[in-house]
Amino acid sequence: MMQQQKEKYRHDYRATDYTITNIHLDFDLNADITTVTAISTVVLQGKAGTPLVLNGKDLRLINLQIDGKEPTRYRLEEDILIIEELPNTFTLTVKTLIYPKNNTALDGLYLSKKTICTQCEAEGFRHITFYLDRPDVLARFTTRILADKKQYPYLLSNGNLVNFGDTGEGKHWVVWEDPFPKPSYLFALVAGNFDVLQDKFITCSGREVKLEIFVDCGNLERADWAMASLKRAMRWDETRFGFEYDLDIYMIVAVDFFNMGAMENKGLNIFNAKYVLARMDTATDIDYLNIERVIGHEYFHNWTGNRITCRDWFQLSLKEGLTVFRDQEFSSDIGSRVVNRINNVRIMRSEQFAEDASPMAHPIRPDKVIEINNFYTLTVYEKGAEVIRMLHTLLGEEKFQAGMRYYVSRHDGNAVTCEDFLVSMEEAVKIDLTLFRRWYSQSGTPLLTVRDDYNNTLNQYTLYVTQKTLPTLDQPEKKSLHIPLDIELYDVHGAVIPLQYNGVMLNKILNINESIQSFTFDRVPSRPIPSLLRNFSAPVRVDYPYRDKELITLMLFSTNDFSRWDATQSLLSIYVRLNVTLYQTGNSLNLPLHIVDAFRKILSNPGLDPALVAEIIMLPTENEMASWFDCVDPIAIHHVRNVLTIWIANELRDEFLTVYRSNPRGIYRIEHRDIGLRALRNCCLYYLAFGDEKLAVHLITEQYHQADNMTDTLAAIVAATAAQLPCQNQLLTQFDDRWYQDGLVMDKWFKVQATSPAPDVLYKVKTLLNHRSFNLKNPNRVRALIGAFSSNNPAAFHEVNGNGYAFLVEILTDLNIYNPQLSSIMVEPLIRVKRYNLERQKLMYSALEDLKNLENLSGDLFEKVSKALTKV
Ligand code: TRP
Ligand code: ZN
Repeated sequence: MMQQQKEKYRHDYRATDYTITNIHLDFDLNADITTVTAISTVVLQGKAGTPLVLNGKDLRLINLQIDGKEPTRYRLEEDILIIEELPNTFTLTVKTLIYPKNNTALDGLYLSKKTICTQCEAEGFRHITFYLDRPDVLARFTTRILADKKQYPYLLSNGNLVNFGDTGEGKHWVVWEDPFPKPSYLFALVAGNFDVLQDKFITCSGREVKLEIFVDCGNLERADWAMASLKRAMRWDETRFGFEYDLDIYMIVAVDFFNMGAMENKGLNIFNAKYVLARMDTATDIDYLNIERVIGHEYFHNWTGNRITCRDWFQLSLKEGLTVFRDQEFSSDIGSRVVNRINNVRIMRSEQFAEDASPMAHPIRPDKVIEINNFYTLTVYEKGAEVIRMLHTLLGEEKFQAGMRYYVSRHDGNAVTCEDFLVSMEEAVKIDLTLFRRWYSQSGTPLLTVRDDYNNTLNQYTLYVTQKTLPTLDQPEKKSLHIPLDIELYDVHGAVIPLQYNGVMLNKILNINESIQSFTFDRVPSRPIPSLLRNFSAPVRVDYPYRDKELITLMLFSTNDFSRWDATQSLLSIYVRLNVTLYQTGNSLNLPLHIVDAFRKILSNPGLDPALVAEIIMLPTENEMASWFDCVDPIAIHHVRNVLTIWIANELRDEFLTVYRSNPRGIYRIEHRDIGLRALRNCCLYYLAFGDEKLAVHLITEQYHQADNMTDTLAAIVAATAAQLPCQNQLLTQFDDRWYQDGLVMDKWFKVQATSPAPDVLYKVKTLLNHRSFNLKNPNRVRALIGAFSSNNPAAFHEVNGNGYAFLVEILTDLNIYNPQLSSIMVEPLIRVKRYNLERQKLMYSALEDLKNLENLSGDLFEKVSKALTKV
C-alpha cells in the first residue's frame, strides 16, 4: 500500500527553540546490542516553555532524565520524543538500545563485515540516540567507547584521543574529544581490527598532522595511493585556496559495506573501500584517479561543509556543489584538465540532463523533499559544481578566491545557506548576482538556439541567441537565466578570428541574460565557423546548424582541446540520429567516409595528447547517445553504435594495429602520459576486437596473459565481451578463479557481464545472483551487477518484452525492505518513463504500479515512484 508521506518545504525553515551546546556520548559497544548514553547540555534559544522535540528512529528508550530526574511530562510518538515543562537550561540524559547487526540499511550504527561503524549523513544520528538531528544544531562532542579488546582493538571517533584504559575483563575504553562544534551528521565512530598505514603532514604554518588510513588486515599495501592522494589534497588546498587543516590527526577508515562513496566526518572519514584500496593488479587507472578525487573531495569538505556547514538540507549544494567544484579543480591541477573536463561534461550531458528531464527534476537547491536521501543527486552535486564554475568563469580566479576568503571569514563556525554564500560573493567583489541566483531556484536544462548571419560587404558577423527551458514536473514556468557563453570564431582554414567591434576587442564570454539577444562582430574577413560553449561554460544544450565540414575543421584545428572533442560529439550526433531513423524505417545505414578520415587524422597526429586522442576516438556510450534524442529507442541506438564501431574498426584497422603495436607496455606508473597511452592502446584494442576475429583473439588473449596491471587485464576482457569473441568465456573463467575472493575486483567482472551485448544477458545476470562472490547485502555488488544491467545496458533492460523491468521490480521488492537508500538509487532507470515510446511507457508504468503496491514501501522509493506515476 502507498502510504501518505509528507513533503517538507524549504520555505518552512524555522530555527529550533532549544539548541545543544555539548554532548557526551557513551557507547557500550556490541554488534548485537549497543547501549548508548547521551548526556547533552540543552539551552533555550526560542520561546520559554515550549516543548523539546527530539528525533529518534528504531530506538529502544530505557532511561530519560532532565537534570537527573525523570521528566514530569514526555511522550514518544512515531520517530519523535516530546518533552514538556522544561527549564531554560538543563542536562538531558537519554539511554537507548540499538542493534548494529540488524541494521542492513547501513544508516546509523551498523556492522560492515566485522567492523562496527557509523553513517550519520543526512539523518542517521537519530538511529543512535534521541537528538536535535539537524545540521543547524552545533555541539561539542566527547565520545567514550567501551568494547571487547580482542574483537575491537581500534576504537575511533572524531577529534583527539584524550584518554584510554582497560577495564580488566577483556574490555578496553577510549575517550575522544572534538574541539570543533559540529552538527550530528558529522559524528563518526569506528570499532574494529585493522592494518594501519601511518604518515604525517606538515601544514603551511608548520604544524604536524598525524595521518592514518585503516584497512582490513592484509590490505596495507593497497593503501599507499590513498595516502599519497591525501597529502596532495592537503597541500593543494593550502596553495590554491589557502585552507589549512585544523586538527592534529586525520583518519580514514575503509569499509566494505557503504551506501555511497565516502563520508567527511570531522577528523574521521569513512570510505567505501572502493575509494581507498588500489594495487596495480587490482585497480584500473580510472580507479586510481577516482580514489584521488574522492580522497580530495572528503578532505576539502573540512572547510566547505564542516567548518562552514548547511543550515538545513535544502542547502545541500552549498557544501556539495562547492566541494565537487573544488575536487574537479584539484584533479585538473594535478592531472589533465581537458580529460577531467570531458569526463565531467559526459556525466552532465548523459546523466544530469536526464535527471533534469525526469520526474525527479529539481533545482540545485530543492524546494520540497520527502526523503532527503533522494537528493544526493547529480543535480545537487554535478550541476551544483557547474553553477559554482560559472561563477568562477564570471569572476575569474582572483576575485573568486577573494569571495571565498570573505565567505569563510564571515561564516566560519556557522550553519548557513546558499543565499549567504551568494551574498558573501556579492559583497566581497561588488557584483550583482540577482539574475544569476535563478540557477539555484530553477530546474531543467536550458536550450540555447544559435543562428547567425554574415554580411560580406560590411565584414560583419552576427550571432542570434535565444534561450528556452522546457517545463519540468516540479516547475511549469521557466525564466531566463544568466548564461556565460564562451565562444571563438574560426576561418575555414582553422585560424582564429579575433572578436572585436568598432575597434574594441571583445571578451570571449558572452553574457546571455535575456530570452533573445544578438552579438555583432566586425572585421570578420570571411564567413566564420563559431566554436560555441567552449569548455562547456554553462550546463545547457546548444543548437546550431553546423555542417560536417565546419565540425571537422573544429575537430582538427581548434585551439582548445575540449572543443576538438566536443566537435566530434556534435558530428557523431548528426549521424547517429540520422542512422537511428534509417534503422527505424527499415532502411540501410549511411556512414559517410569523411568521419573516418577525420578520425584517421586525429589518430595519426603525433602532436596530440594520447589521452585526448582516446577520448575523441572512443565512441560515446549508448547512454550518451540517448541524450541526443527526445524519444529514446535503445535497441536502435545499440544497433547503430555497433555498426558504427564495426565500420570504423574496418576502415582504420591498419592505423589501430600500428598504434597498438607502436606503444609497447612499459613499467606501470600512474602518470598522465602513461595513463593516456594505455587508454589509447586499449581503445585501439577495442576496435581491433571488432575486426578480423583470429587477430583479435590473438591480441586479446596475449594482452590478458601478459598484463601486469588491471587496466590492461580488464581492457582485454571488455573488448572480448563487447565483440562477443569466442575467447570471452575462457578469460572470464580465468578471472573468476584468480579473483573470486576479492569483491572489489569481482565488481569489474560482474559489470562486464551485466553490460554484455549477449542476447541472454538477463538470464546470465540472474544466474550471477547466485555466484560465490555475489552478495545482495553489499551495495557495491548490487551496483556492479544489477545497477550496471539496468543503467548501462539500456538495450537489454528496455527490451520490449518487459523482462528487464520485471527483474528490477523483483530485486527492489527485497531491497526496499533492507536497504531503502540503495533501492531508491536503483529504481532510477525505471522512473524515466517519458523518454520512451508508448509501448515501453505502458510496461514501465505497470512495473511502477507493482512497486507502488508493495507492502512497507519506504519513503525513499515512495517519493520516486509516486512522482513517476503523476499524470500531467
Ligand atoms: N557527504 C558525502 C559526500 O558527498 C555523501 C554521503 C556519504 C552520503 N554517505 C552518505 C549521503 C549517506 C547520504 C547518505 O562525500
Ligand atoms: Zn560531498
